[in-house]
Amino acid sequence: MKKYVYPYKVFTDREGQKFHFNAYKLLLTAVDDAHLDLLKNLESLDYERVQELITDDEQKQCLQDLSEFEMIGDEPYILQADATAFTPTSYRIVLTEQCNLACVECFATKNVNCLKTMDEETLFKVLDYSFEHNRDKTVQYCFFGGEPLIKFDLIKQAVERIEGAESSNIIKKPIFLITTNGTIITDEMIDFFVEHNFRVGVSVDGPKQIHDKLRPYKNAKGTFDDVKANYIKMYNRGVDIHVLITPNPDYLDDLPNIAEYILKNFPMKELTINTPFKYDTLQWSVDGEKYANILFEVYKLAGEYGVMLDSALSAVLGSISNGIRRRTPCSILGDEFMTLVNPQGKMSRCAQKYDDKIALQTLEKNSTDSCKNCFAYGFCGGVCPAYKALSNKPHDSNKCKFMQAVIPNLINNLHLFEETADDI
Ligand SMILES: C[S@@+](CC[C@H](N)C(=O)[O-])C[C@H]1O[C@@H](n2cnc3c(N)ncnc32)[C@H](O)[C@@H]1O
Repeated sequence: MKKYVYPYKVFTDREGQKFHFNAYKLLLTAVDDAHLDLLKNLESLDYERVQELITDDEQKQCLQDLSEFEMIGDEPYILQADATAFTPTSYRIVLTEQCNLACVECFATKNVNCLKTMDEETLFKVLDYSFEHNRDKTVQYCFFGGEPLIKFDLIKQAVERIEGAESSNIIKKPIFLITTNGTIITDEMIDFFVEHNFRVGVSVDGPKQIHDKLRPYKNAKGTFDDVKANYIKMYNRGVDIHVLITPNPDYLDDLPNIAEYILKNFPMKELTINTPFKYDTLQWSVDGEKYANILFEVYKLAGEYGVMLDSALSAVLGSISNGIRRRTPCSILGDEFMTLVNPQGKMSRCAQKYDDKIALQTLEKNSTDSCKNCFAYGFCGGVCPAYKALSNKPHDSNKCKFMQAVIPNLINNLHLFEETADDI
Protein backbone atom coordinates (compact mmCIF):
# COMPACT_ATOMS: atom_id res chain seq x y z
CA MET A 1 0.00 0.00 0.00
CA LYS A 2 1.36 3.41 -1.03
CA LYS A 3 1.71 5.96 1.77
CA TYR A 4 2.55 9.57 1.03
CA VAL A 5 4.74 11.66 3.34
CA TYR A 6 3.06 15.03 3.32
CA PRO A 7 5.38 18.03 2.88
CA TYR A 8 6.46 19.40 6.23
CA LYS A 9 8.86 21.61 8.11
CA VAL A 10 10.14 21.16 11.66
CA PHE A 11 10.22 24.06 14.13
CA THR A 12 11.57 24.21 17.68
CA ASP A 13 9.97 26.42 20.35
CA ARG A 14 11.77 28.36 23.10
CA GLU A 15 11.68 25.34 25.43
CA GLY A 16 13.25 23.06 22.83
CA GLN A 17 10.00 21.23 21.97
CA LYS A 18 9.90 20.22 18.31
CA PHE A 19 6.81 20.78 16.16
CA HIS A 20 5.96 19.23 12.83
CA PHE A 21 4.09 21.60 10.51
CA ASN A 22 2.22 19.73 7.82
CA ALA A 23 2.23 22.07 4.81
CA TYR A 24 -0.50 20.06 3.06
CA LYS A 25 -3.00 19.55 5.89
CA LEU A 26 -1.94 22.72 7.77
CA LEU A 27 -1.56 20.76 11.00
CA LEU A 28 0.87 21.57 13.76
CA THR A 29 1.88 18.64 15.95
CA ALA A 30 4.34 18.34 18.85
CA VAL A 31 6.78 15.55 17.94
CA ASP A 32 9.98 13.97 19.19
CA ASP A 33 13.04 12.81 17.32
CA ALA A 34 11.73 9.26 16.93
CA HIS A 35 8.81 10.57 14.80
CA LEU A 36 11.15 12.65 12.69
CA ASP A 37 13.58 9.76 12.15
CA LEU A 38 10.74 7.55 10.98
CA LEU A 39 9.49 10.24 8.62
CA LYS A 40 12.97 10.52 7.11
CA ASN A 41 12.98 6.74 6.57
CA LEU A 42 9.57 6.89 4.93
CA GLU A 43 10.82 9.48 2.48
CA SER A 44 13.28 6.96 1.04
CA LEU A 45 11.71 3.55 1.80
CA ASP A 46 8.31 1.96 1.18
CA TYR A 47 5.91 1.91 4.08
CA GLU A 48 5.95 -1.93 4.20
CA ARG A 49 9.73 -1.95 4.30
CA VAL A 50 9.76 0.48 7.23
CA GLN A 51 7.17 -1.67 9.02
CA GLU A 52 9.44 -4.69 8.61
CA LEU A 53 12.45 -2.81 9.92
CA ILE A 54 10.93 -1.55 13.15
CA THR A 55 10.87 -3.96 16.01
CA ASP A 56 10.22 -2.30 19.35
CA ASP A 57 6.80 -1.16 20.58
CA GLU A 58 7.81 2.45 20.92
CA GLN A 59 8.70 2.66 17.24
CA LYS A 60 5.49 0.89 16.28
CA GLN A 61 3.54 3.47 18.30
CA CYS A 62 5.46 6.25 16.53
CA LEU A 63 4.54 4.85 13.13
CA GLN A 64 0.90 4.75 14.19
CA ASP A 65 1.17 8.39 15.37
CA LEU A 66 2.37 9.44 11.93
CA SER A 67 -0.85 8.11 10.37
CA GLU A 68 -3.08 9.26 13.20
CA PHE A 69 -1.75 12.83 13.06
CA GLU A 70 -1.95 12.77 9.25
CA MET A 71 1.75 13.33 8.65
CA ILE A 72 1.49 10.44 6.21
CA GLY A 73 -1.61 9.30 4.35
CA ASP A 74 -3.12 7.46 1.44
CA GLU A 75 -4.19 10.45 -0.62
CA PRO A 76 -1.76 11.99 -3.10
CA TYR A 77 -1.36 15.70 -2.53
CA ILE A 78 -1.41 18.79 -4.70
CA LEU A 79 -0.19 21.87 -2.94
CA GLN A 80 -2.34 24.35 -4.74
CA ALA A 81 -5.79 24.57 -6.23
CA ASP A 82 -5.89 28.01 -7.79
CA ALA A 83 -9.07 29.94 -8.00
CA THR A 84 -9.81 30.76 -11.62
CA ALA A 85 -13.15 32.53 -11.27
CA PHE A 86 -13.72 35.49 -9.03
CA THR A 87 -17.09 36.66 -7.80
CA PRO A 88 -17.04 39.78 -5.72
CA THR A 89 -19.46 39.53 -2.81
CA SER A 90 -18.01 42.58 -1.18
CA TYR A 91 -17.82 46.01 -2.85
CA ARG A 92 -15.47 48.68 -1.55
CA ILE A 93 -16.85 51.70 -3.32
CA VAL A 94 -14.66 54.79 -3.70
CA LEU A 95 -17.37 57.46 -3.76
CA THR A 96 -14.79 60.19 -3.99
CA GLU A 97 -11.04 60.39 -3.93
CA GLN A 98 -11.31 63.86 -2.42
CA CYS A 99 -10.49 64.24 1.25
CA ASN A 100 -10.46 67.04 3.80
CA LEU A 101 -7.22 65.71 5.38
CA ALA A 102 -3.62 65.51 4.15
CA CYS A 103 -2.48 62.20 5.66
CA VAL A 104 1.21 61.51 5.24
CA GLU A 105 0.89 58.04 3.65
CA CYS A 106 -2.28 58.44 1.61
CA PHE A 107 -2.63 58.41 -2.18
CA ALA A 108 -5.20 61.22 -1.92
CA THR A 109 -2.51 63.52 -0.53
CA LYS A 110 0.01 62.47 -3.16
CA ASN A 111 -2.31 62.86 -6.19
CA VAL A 112 -4.14 65.95 -5.11
CA ASN A 113 -4.63 67.34 -8.65
CA CYS A 114 -6.39 64.39 -10.25
CA LEU A 115 -8.88 63.20 -7.65
CA LYS A 116 -12.23 61.94 -9.00
CA THR A 117 -15.75 61.65 -7.63
CA MET A 118 -18.41 59.08 -8.57
CA ASP A 119 -21.67 60.23 -10.12
CA GLU A 120 -25.12 58.85 -9.32
CA GLU A 121 -25.49 56.99 -12.65
CA THR A 122 -22.19 55.15 -12.14
CA LEU A 123 -23.07 54.31 -8.54
CA PHE A 124 -26.40 52.79 -9.60
CA LYS A 125 -24.72 50.77 -12.36
CA VAL A 126 -22.27 49.34 -9.83
CA LEU A 127 -25.05 48.47 -7.39
CA ASP A 128 -27.12 46.82 -10.11
CA TYR A 129 -24.07 44.75 -11.11
CA SER A 130 -23.68 43.66 -7.49
CA PHE A 131 -27.36 42.58 -7.33
CA GLU A 132 -27.18 40.74 -10.62
CA HIS A 133 -24.08 38.78 -9.60
CA ASN A 134 -25.19 37.96 -6.07
CA ARG A 135 -28.82 36.87 -6.31
CA ASP A 136 -30.07 35.51 -2.95
CA LYS A 137 -26.72 36.23 -1.34
CA THR A 138 -25.57 38.52 1.43
CA VAL A 139 -23.60 41.34 -0.13
CA GLN A 140 -21.24 43.64 1.71
CA TYR A 141 -20.96 47.32 0.79
CA CYS A 142 -18.05 49.31 2.16
CA PHE A 143 -18.16 53.04 1.48
CA PHE A 144 -14.64 54.26 0.94
CA GLY A 145 -12.53 57.11 -0.37
CA GLY A 146 -10.90 59.64 -0.12
CA GLU A 147 -13.31 60.61 2.60
CA PRO A 148 -16.66 58.94 1.83
CA LEU A 149 -18.67 61.21 4.15
CA ILE A 150 -17.96 64.13 1.80
CA LYS A 151 -20.51 62.32 -0.40
CA PHE A 152 -23.04 61.48 2.32
CA ASP A 153 -25.82 62.26 -0.19
CA LEU A 154 -24.57 59.42 -2.44
CA ILE A 155 -24.37 57.04 0.53
CA LYS A 156 -28.03 57.72 1.32
CA GLN A 157 -29.02 57.06 -2.29
CA ALA A 158 -26.96 53.86 -2.36
CA VAL A 159 -28.50 52.52 0.84
CA GLU A 160 -32.01 53.26 -0.42
CA ARG A 161 -31.36 51.34 -3.65
CA ILE A 162 -29.67 48.42 -1.87
CA GLU A 163 -32.45 48.12 0.69
CA GLY A 164 -34.90 48.22 -2.21
CA ALA A 165 -33.14 45.20 -3.72
CA GLU A 166 -33.40 43.47 -0.35
CA SER A 167 -37.15 44.23 -0.03
CA SER A 168 -37.68 42.85 -3.53
CA ASN A 169 -35.89 39.65 -2.43
CA ILE A 170 -33.13 40.08 -5.01
CA ILE A 171 -30.35 39.97 -2.42
CA LYS A 172 -30.31 38.93 1.24
CA LYS A 173 -29.85 41.43 4.09
CA PRO A 174 -26.86 43.58 3.09
CA ILE A 175 -23.94 44.48 5.33
CA PHE A 176 -22.98 48.16 5.39
CA LEU A 177 -19.53 49.36 6.34
CA ILE A 178 -17.83 52.70 6.13
CA THR A 179 -14.22 53.72 6.65
CA THR A 180 -13.95 57.35 7.69
CA ASN A 181 -11.46 59.80 9.11
CA GLY A 182 -14.13 60.72 11.68
CA THR A 183 -13.82 64.49 11.28
CA ILE A 184 -17.09 65.52 9.60
CA ILE A 185 -19.68 63.61 11.61
CA THR A 186 -23.14 65.17 11.99
CA ASP A 187 -26.13 64.08 14.11
CA GLU A 188 -27.93 63.12 10.90
CA MET A 189 -25.06 60.77 9.97
CA ILE A 190 -25.06 59.18 13.42
CA ASP A 191 -28.83 58.51 13.27
CA PHE A 192 -28.37 57.09 9.76
CA PHE A 193 -25.59 54.71 10.86
CA VAL A 194 -27.71 53.42 13.73
CA GLU A 195 -30.85 53.07 11.62
CA HIS A 196 -29.09 51.10 8.88
CA ASN A 197 -26.79 49.04 11.13
CA PHE A 198 -23.57 50.45 9.72
CA ARG A 199 -20.24 49.15 10.96
CA VAL A 200 -18.15 52.28 11.20
CA GLY A 201 -14.35 52.07 11.06
CA VAL A 202 -12.55 55.23 12.17
CA SER A 203 -8.87 55.68 11.29
CA VAL A 204 -6.78 56.59 14.32
CA ASP A 205 -3.04 56.14 13.99
CA GLY A 206 -1.98 56.67 17.59
CA PRO A 207 -2.04 59.04 20.55
CA LYS A 208 -2.55 62.75 19.77
CA GLN A 209 1.12 63.49 19.15
CA ILE A 210 1.51 60.73 16.53
CA HIS A 211 -1.98 60.92 15.02
CA ASP A 212 -1.79 64.70 14.53
CA LYS A 213 1.51 64.32 12.72
CA LEU A 214 0.28 61.54 10.42
CA ARG A 215 -3.35 62.62 9.88
CA PRO A 216 -3.58 66.44 9.82
CA TYR A 217 -6.20 68.66 8.20
CA LYS A 218 -5.10 70.28 4.95
CA ASN A 219 -4.15 73.41 6.93
CA ALA A 220 -1.77 71.22 9.01
CA LYS A 221 -3.90 71.46 12.17
CA GLY A 222 -4.12 68.14 14.04
CA THR A 223 -7.36 66.13 13.84
CA PHE A 224 -7.03 63.97 16.94
CA ASP A 225 -9.27 65.98 19.29
CA ASP A 226 -12.12 66.17 16.75
CA VAL A 227 -11.84 62.47 15.85
CA LYS A 228 -11.81 61.33 19.49
CA ALA A 229 -14.81 63.53 20.40
CA ASN A 230 -16.80 62.28 17.38
CA TYR A 231 -15.83 58.66 18.07
CA ILE A 232 -17.02 58.78 21.67
CA LYS A 233 -20.22 60.55 20.61
CA MET A 234 -20.96 57.84 18.01
CA TYR A 235 -20.14 55.06 20.48
CA ASN A 236 -22.44 56.57 23.12
CA ARG A 237 -25.26 56.85 20.58
CA GLY A 238 -25.00 53.12 19.86
CA VAL A 239 -23.06 53.09 16.58
CA ASP A 240 -21.22 49.80 15.91
CA ILE A 241 -17.80 51.40 15.79
CA HIS A 242 -14.15 50.42 15.83
CA VAL A 243 -10.69 51.83 15.14
CA LEU A 244 -8.39 51.14 12.19
CA ILE A 245 -4.70 51.73 12.81
CA THR A 246 -2.37 52.02 9.82
CA PRO A 247 1.13 51.50 11.20
CA ASN A 248 3.55 54.06 9.83
CA PRO A 249 6.88 52.33 9.05
CA ASP A 250 8.70 54.98 11.14
CA TYR A 251 6.63 54.02 14.20
CA LEU A 252 6.51 50.26 13.69
CA ASP A 253 8.42 49.48 16.90
CA ASP A 254 5.87 51.57 18.78
CA LEU A 255 2.88 49.65 17.40
CA PRO A 256 2.19 47.66 20.62
CA ASN A 257 2.22 50.91 22.66
CA ILE A 258 0.07 52.65 20.07
CA ALA A 259 -2.39 49.76 20.05
CA GLU A 260 -2.52 49.68 23.85
CA TYR A 261 -3.23 53.43 23.95
CA ILE A 262 -6.06 52.96 21.45
CA LEU A 263 -7.46 49.96 23.32
CA LYS A 264 -7.51 51.97 26.56
CA ASN A 265 -9.06 55.11 25.10
CA PHE A 266 -11.42 53.99 22.33
CA PRO A 267 -14.14 51.50 23.29
CA MET A 268 -14.71 48.80 20.65
CA LYS A 269 -15.19 45.07 20.10
CA GLU A 270 -12.69 44.70 17.26
CA LEU A 271 -9.51 46.55 16.37
CA THR A 272 -8.28 46.60 12.77
CA ILE A 273 -4.64 46.98 11.83
CA ASN A 274 -4.15 47.81 8.15
CA THR A 275 -1.01 46.43 6.58
CA PRO A 276 0.91 49.43 5.25
CA PHE A 277 1.80 49.16 1.58
CA LYS A 278 3.38 51.29 -1.14
CA TYR A 279 0.54 52.61 -3.23
CA ASP A 280 2.26 52.31 -6.65
CA THR A 281 3.16 48.59 -6.41
CA LEU A 282 1.17 47.35 -3.35
CA GLN A 283 4.44 46.15 -1.83
CA TRP A 284 4.27 45.80 1.96
CA SER A 285 6.24 48.70 3.36
CA VAL A 286 7.37 47.04 6.60
CA ASP A 287 9.79 44.19 7.23
CA GLY A 288 7.64 41.07 7.19
CA GLU A 289 9.30 39.11 9.97
CA LYS A 290 9.32 42.06 12.34
CA TYR A 291 5.71 42.85 11.46
CA ALA A 292 4.62 39.28 12.24
CA ASN A 293 6.38 39.36 15.64
CA ILE A 294 4.78 42.69 16.48
CA LEU A 295 1.30 41.63 15.37
CA PHE A 296 1.49 38.61 17.68
CA GLU A 297 2.28 41.02 20.52
CA VAL A 298 -0.70 43.17 19.58
CA TYR A 299 -2.86 40.04 19.32
CA LYS A 300 -1.93 39.23 22.92
CA LEU A 301 -2.69 42.78 24.08
CA ALA A 302 -6.06 42.92 22.31
CA GLY A 303 -6.98 39.64 24.02
CA GLU A 304 -6.22 41.20 27.40
CA TYR A 305 -8.72 43.96 26.60
CA GLY A 306 -11.30 41.46 25.33
CA VAL A 307 -11.03 42.92 21.81
CA MET A 308 -10.73 40.88 18.59
CA LEU A 309 -7.86 41.76 16.29
CA ASP A 310 -8.43 42.01 12.55
CA SER A 311 -5.06 42.13 10.80
CA ALA A 312 -2.88 40.40 8.22
CA LEU A 313 -2.80 37.50 10.68
CA SER A 314 -6.57 36.94 10.65
CA ALA A 315 -7.00 34.97 7.43
CA VAL A 316 -3.76 33.10 8.07
CA LEU A 317 -4.75 31.95 11.56
CA GLY A 318 -8.27 31.19 10.30
CA SER A 319 -6.82 28.99 7.59
CA ILE A 320 -4.47 27.11 9.94
CA SER A 321 -6.98 26.65 12.74
CA ASN A 322 -9.57 25.25 10.32
CA GLY A 323 -7.05 23.26 8.28
CA ILE A 324 -8.40 24.87 5.11
CA ARG A 325 -5.93 25.99 2.47
CA ARG A 326 -6.40 29.45 1.03
CA ARG A 327 -7.07 29.41 -2.70
CA THR A 328 -6.02 33.02 -3.22
CA PRO A 329 -3.95 35.42 -1.15
CA CYS A 330 -7.02 37.59 -0.50
CA SER A 331 -9.52 34.97 0.62
CA ILE A 332 -9.98 32.41 3.36
CA LEU A 333 -12.39 30.15 1.55
CA GLY A 334 -13.51 29.69 -2.02
CA ASP A 335 -13.45 32.40 -4.63
CA GLU A 336 -15.35 35.12 -2.80
CA PHE A 337 -13.50 38.35 -2.35
CA MET A 338 -13.73 42.13 -2.03
CA THR A 339 -13.38 44.30 -5.13
CA LEU A 340 -12.44 47.95 -5.05
CA VAL A 341 -14.66 50.05 -7.31
CA ASN A 342 -13.11 53.33 -8.47
CA PRO A 343 -15.13 56.54 -9.05
CA GLN A 344 -15.54 55.64 -12.75
CA GLY A 345 -17.22 52.40 -11.69
CA LYS A 346 -14.27 50.22 -12.73
CA MET A 347 -13.78 47.15 -10.59
CA SER A 348 -10.48 45.78 -9.40
CA ARG A 349 -9.51 42.24 -8.50
CA CYS A 350 -7.76 43.85 -5.54
CA ALA A 351 -9.44 45.50 -2.54
CA GLN A 352 -6.71 48.11 -2.22
CA LYS A 353 -6.62 49.95 -5.53
CA TYR A 354 -7.80 50.07 -9.12
CA ASP A 355 -5.43 49.98 -12.11
CA ASP A 356 -6.24 48.77 -15.65
CA LYS A 357 -3.58 46.07 -15.19
CA ILE A 358 -5.53 44.56 -12.29
CA ALA A 359 -9.08 45.11 -13.49
CA LEU A 360 -11.60 42.43 -12.48
CA GLN A 361 -11.59 40.97 -15.99
CA THR A 362 -7.82 40.46 -16.13
CA LEU A 363 -7.83 37.14 -14.38
CA GLU A 364 -4.75 35.05 -14.12
CA LYS A 365 -3.79 32.21 -11.83
CA ASN A 366 -2.01 33.47 -8.79
CA SER A 367 0.53 30.73 -8.28
CA THR A 368 4.23 30.88 -8.93
CA ASP A 369 6.42 27.83 -9.08
CA SER A 370 8.67 29.17 -6.37
CA CYS A 371 5.76 29.04 -3.90
CA LYS A 372 5.27 25.32 -4.36
CA ASN A 373 8.30 24.58 -2.21
CA CYS A 374 7.30 26.99 0.52
CA PHE A 375 5.73 25.47 3.66
CA ALA A 376 3.64 28.64 4.07
CA TYR A 377 1.95 28.36 0.66
CA GLY A 378 -1.26 26.75 1.96
CA PHE A 379 -2.08 29.46 4.51
CA CYS A 380 -0.55 32.36 2.54
CA GLY A 381 -2.45 31.69 -0.69
CA GLY A 382 0.50 32.54 -2.95
CA VAL A 383 1.80 35.69 -4.54
CA CYS A 384 -0.62 38.60 -4.72
CA PRO A 385 -1.44 38.78 -8.47
CA ALA A 386 -2.03 42.52 -8.23
CA TYR A 387 1.43 43.04 -6.72
CA LYS A 388 2.94 40.86 -9.45
CA ALA A 389 1.18 42.79 -12.23
CA LEU A 390 2.09 46.20 -10.84
CA SER A 391 5.65 45.56 -9.71
CA ASN A 392 6.79 43.01 -12.35
CA LYS A 393 8.49 41.14 -9.53
CA PRO A 394 7.85 37.47 -8.70
CA HIS A 395 6.98 38.02 -5.05
CA ASP A 396 6.92 40.58 -2.25
CA SER A 397 9.77 39.58 0.04
CA ASN A 398 8.19 41.41 3.00
CA LYS A 399 5.01 39.41 2.65
CA CYS A 400 6.95 36.13 2.25
CA LYS A 401 8.95 36.88 5.39
CA PHE A 402 5.73 37.65 7.25
CA MET A 403 4.13 34.35 6.26
CA GLN A 404 7.24 32.37 7.10
CA ALA A 405 7.39 33.95 10.57
CA VAL A 406 3.84 32.91 11.48
CA ILE A 407 4.55 29.31 12.57
CA PRO A 408 7.60 30.18 14.72
CA ASN A 409 5.45 32.80 16.47
CA LEU A 410 2.51 30.45 16.76
CA ILE A 411 4.45 27.69 18.54
CA ASN A 412 5.76 30.19 21.07
CA ASN A 413 2.30 31.63 21.72
CA LEU A 414 0.11 28.56 21.72
CA HIS A 415 -1.53 29.66 24.98
CA LEU A 416 -3.15 32.54 23.04
CA PHE A 417 -5.03 30.08 20.90
CA GLU A 418 -6.42 27.72 23.48
CA GLU A 419 -9.06 26.20 21.25
CA THR A 420 -6.55 25.69 18.47
CA ALA A 421 -3.94 24.38 20.90
CA ASP A 422 -6.37 21.73 22.18
CA ASP A 423 -6.57 20.33 18.66
CA ILE A 424 -2.83 20.16 18.30
C1 LIG B 1 -7.58 55.61 2.23
S1 LIG B 1 -8.44 55.86 3.74
C2 LIG B 1 -10.05 56.27 3.16
C3 LIG B 1 -11.11 56.40 4.22
C4 LIG B 1 -11.02 57.56 5.17
N1 LIG B 1 -10.71 58.80 4.55
C5 LIG B 1 -10.06 57.27 6.31
O1 LIG B 1 -9.18 58.09 6.55
O2 LIG B 1 -10.26 56.27 6.97
C6 LIG B 1 -8.72 54.20 4.34
C7 LIG B 1 -7.64 53.62 5.19
O3 LIG B 1 -6.49 53.38 4.40
C8 LIG B 1 -5.37 53.65 5.20
N2 LIG B 1 -4.20 53.91 4.35
C9 LIG B 1 -3.83 55.05 3.74
N3 LIG B 1 -2.67 54.89 3.08
C10 LIG B 1 -2.30 53.60 3.28
C11 LIG B 1 -1.18 52.81 2.88
N4 LIG B 1 -0.23 53.31 2.12
N5 LIG B 1 -1.13 51.53 3.29
C12 LIG B 1 -2.12 50.99 4.05
N6 LIG B 1 -3.20 51.68 4.46
C13 LIG B 1 -3.28 52.96 4.08
C14 LIG B 1 -5.80 54.84 6.01
O4 LIG B 1 -4.99 55.02 7.16
C15 LIG B 1 -7.21 54.48 6.35
O5 LIG B 1 -7.28 53.73 7.54
